[in-house]
Amino acid sequence: MPEQAGALILFGITGDLARKMILPALYRLTADRRLDLPIIGVARTDLDLDGLREHVREACGGVHDAAFDKLASNLRLVSGDYQDPAVFAQLRDEVEGKGFLVHYLAVPPALFAAVAEGLAGEGLNRDARLVVEKPFGHDLQSARELNDELLKYFDEDHLRRVDHFLGKEPVEDLMVFRFANMLLEPIWNRSFIRSIQITMAEDFDIHDRGGFYDANGAIRDVVQNHLLQLLAILAMDPPPSKDARAQLDEKWRVLRAVQPISPSDVVRGQYVGYLDTDGVRPGSTTETYVALRACIDNWRWAGVPWCIRAGKAMPTTDLEIVAELRQPPVAMFEHGDAPDSPNLIRFRLQPDAGVTFDLLAKEPGRQRTRPVPVSVDFTKVLGPLEAAYVRILADAVSGDPRRFARFDLVDESWRIVQPVLDLPEPPLPYEKGTWGPEPAQSIPPGGWHSISTTFD
Ligand code: BG6
Repeated sequence: MPEQAGALILFGITGDLARKMILPALYRLTADRRLDLPIIGVARTDLDLDGLREHVREACGGVHDAAFDKLASNLRLVSGDYQDPAVFAQLRDEVEGKGFLVHYLAVPPALFAAVAEGLAGEGLNRDARLVVEKPFGHDLQSARELNDELLKYFDEDHLRRVDHFLGKEPVEDLMVFRFANMLLEPIWNRSFIRSIQITMAEDFDIHDRGGFYDANGAIRDVVQNHLLQLLAILAMDPPPSKDARAQLDEKWRVLRAVQPISPSDVVRGQYVGYLDTDGVRPGSTTETYVALRACIDNWRWAGVPWCIRAGKAMPTTDLEIVAELRQPPVAMFEHGDAPDSPNLIRFRLQPDAGVTFDLLAKEPGRQRTRPVPVSVDFTKVLGPLEAAYVRILADAVSGDPRRFARFDLVDESWRIVQPVLDLPEPPLPYEKGTWGPEPAQSIPPGGWHSISTTFD
């Protein structure tokens, strides 16, 4: 049974992440009557409790309703520096007798260990859960060091590493589509699939995130975490049971089979104008675009290229996976308009969610047997999707670990990208609003398939 928390302690309650994601999610859960527990904000702030409530109201869109009143009545505030033991002593008084605690660290990763130590100093780690935001480490070595630090105070079963992609409903739908249908699984292997392409395109640039982004770049920002998680969900074998651990084990098993990315299988790009952004170092070689080819050396996938591309300032904002099937062994029909059109299975995750099969059908007309491409589209009609953070917060409080990144998966993901972090060659320039540098187009055999919303 999931273990329900007695109080949620939110470190960084006045910060950016809390304002944009966490507070609105807490409001939603309160409005849906799924959350009703003390929420103790911890922050270095001049605000008093009334000021904090106003801050929270603004973050929730200026609401004046019963759900907000409920949320506001649950709020408490402990202000001070995370390095100061007095803050943790005050926190201990606040949570006295509250039962099982969930500490949510919406603070920079450099503070994770200090907060964990401060909590332990007051015994607030006992049976408590620690939720930390990404990035978890900067490379393989630093991720292991950070993990070792946290393990001094919290064991793995009580650690939750947020990867908000795991809270996205369409990501979960990949599992359902794969394992609730008989259609896909028999062909989901090297005998039938020629390549898999994962595209995460964003049509905006890095705005005001120069400082954060420049220290990271596309590989650290979204490939090591979000996109390798997607790869694991798509490539894994069916878990042997329904429990969270079985699912996480299978994801780990497939990541174990992914070879470290070779620098010759990567093209990095940087959009023109990036260097003029506040917070970006002069002459920075941080990539805002990456395209890479990964190989999974196991019986199911050996020889199938898994191609991933992610970029800022692209022509569109889309998250889509395209699986290309092999050609039939014998060409039985005369060539139509698109002689080599392969069958494609497209999983669209954003902006809309759905699955499309690109097939070939007979061109209408009695004498003709020319195949022409047709699309069979299953667009989701499930109503509005729940925001990823709502699901992440609900799980942080209830205890189900499956939508979080277990450390062995994080470790494998860093191992996979490690050889292509900090490559010495500068990234290739590309113009904003384009699909990245030209050499990236040949990362998949035969090039990238257009994605459904653009058909570029
Ligand atoms: C974040 C990255 O983790 O994910 C951002 O830091 C990226 O750079 C974002 O834009 C994308 O998430 P979503 O949910 O908006 O698709």
